[in-house]
Amino acid sequence: MQSELMRLPSGKVGFSKAMSNKWIRVDKNAPGGTRVFRAVDSVEDLVQAKLQLVQDGEAEHLSEKERNELKKRKLLSEVTLKTYWVSKGSAFSTNISKQETELSPEMISSGSWRDVKFKAYNFSSKGVLPEGGHLHPLMKVRTQFRQIFLEMGFTEMLTDNFIESSFWNFDALFQPQQHPARDQHDTFFLKDPAEALDFPMDYVERVKRTHSQGGYGSQGYKYDWKLEEAQKNLLRTHTTAASARALYRLAQQKPFSPAKYFSIDRVFRNETLDATHLAEFHQIEGVVADYGLTLGHLMGILKEFFTKLGITHLRFKPAYNPYTEPSMEVFSYHQGLKKWVEVGNSGVFRPEMLLPMGLPEGVSVIAWGLSLERPTMIKYGINNIRELVGHRVNLQMVYDSPLCRLDT
Ligand code: PHE
Repeated sequence: MQSELMRLPSGKVGFSKAMSNKWIRVDKNAPGGTRVFRAVDSVEDLVQAKLQLVQDGEAEHLSEKERNELKKRKLLSEVTLKTYWVSKGSAFSTNISKQETELSPEMISSGSWRDVKFKAYNFSSKGVLPEGGHLHPLMKVRTQFRQIFLEMGFTEMLTDNFIESSFWNFDALFQPQQHPARDQHDTFFLKDPAEALDFPMDYVERVKRTHSQGGYGSQGYKYDWKLEEAQKNLLRTHTTAASARALYRLAQQKPFSPAKYFSIDRVFRNETLDATHLAEFHQIEGVVADYGLTLGHLMGILKEFFTKLGITHLRFKPAYNPYTEPSMEVFSYHQGLKKWVEVGNSGVFRPEMLLPMGLPEGVSVIAWGLSLERPTMIKYGINNIRELVGHRVNLQMVYDSPLCRLDT
C-alpha cells in the first residue's frame, strides 16, 4: 500500500526517487487503495556510491549538480578553504631604505644618482587640489536673487555709491527733514566731504515746494525746508535712494515708457549691534513703474517673486513708510519655526515723491524691499550674523558652503 510506504522514515524521498528511476510502478485502481509494485529485479544505489566517494576523500569527482543535490538533502556540506603561500620577493630586505623622489643638483654633481633608488612615478595619483577663490554665501544668494529678477524681466539699477546725499536718501522720498530716521542715532553722516553740491536744481525746487507748501493735491508738511539739510552727506540707509535716482532718470525720458528695476547692494545704519543686526547689510529692492498700477499688482508681483524663492504662503500687514501709501509688510509662514515671519516691506510710492520728478500723472510705482542677510542665514543655517559677516567669519565656512538654490 502506498500509504504505508509514506509512513516509513525517508518514505517520501525514497518513493519519488524510485518513481523517477522507474524502479517501481503504481496501480491506482488496486482493490483497497493505491499499491506499489517492484518494476526491476535489482537496483544500484548511486547515492551510496557517491557518498562513498566523499568518504574516501574523492569528492572532486562529483559534478557540481551532483554535489548540489546531495547538499540539498543535507547529506553533504561544502567548505571553501583559501590558502596563501608567502615567500620572500626579489627585493626582500630587513632594513628599510627610503626611495628618492627627486633628482637634486647635488646628486648630479656628485654622481650619487647612479646608486640611489628612485621611486617610480604614479601617473594615476589624483594630486592636491589647487586652492581657488571661494564665493561668500551672501554672494551666492545674491546671484540667485539677481537670476530671479532677470527671469522676471527686471533691469539692474546703478547702486555704485555708498555715499549719498540726504536729498536722494530722504528728501526725494518725501521724508520730512525732522523725521527721526534722519537723526544722528540712526544714520552715519559724513564729516568730509560733509556736503553734496551737485543737484538738478529745478527738481530740488519742486521737492522743496512739495515738502513746505504741498502741491499735486497734497498739503505737504508745512515746514521750512532747508537745502543745507538736504546737502548733508551720509552712508545711504536704504537702496530706495538708488531707486529714487533711477525713477528721476526715467522721468526725464520722454515719452514715458514702463520700467522694471531691481538692485541688490549694501546699506548702512547706526544700529545697536546684536546677533541679527550689524551696522551694514544688503538690501534687495524691486521697482515697477507703469500707468494704472494698483495694490493688486503689487500683491501679484510679490506672490510671483516669493514663489520663485519657494515661499508660497504670503500675508500682508498694513505698515507705514514716509514714501509709500499704502504700505505693507510681507509675512510668510515659516515651516521650521512654525510661525509667520516678516520677509519684506513694500508699498505704492506716493504722488508727492513721483510727480515732482516729472513722471506723468496716472503713472504709479510699486516697490518692495528685503534684506539679503536674512534669507542667507536661513538657507545656510547661520544663527549669528557675526558668523556670516565681519572679522569673526571662519573662512572654512565660506569654503564649505555649497551653491545656493532658492527653491525649497
Ligand atoms: N526702503 C525700505 C526699507 O528700508 C524698503 C522698501 C522699499 C519699502 C520699497 C517700500 C518700498 O525697509
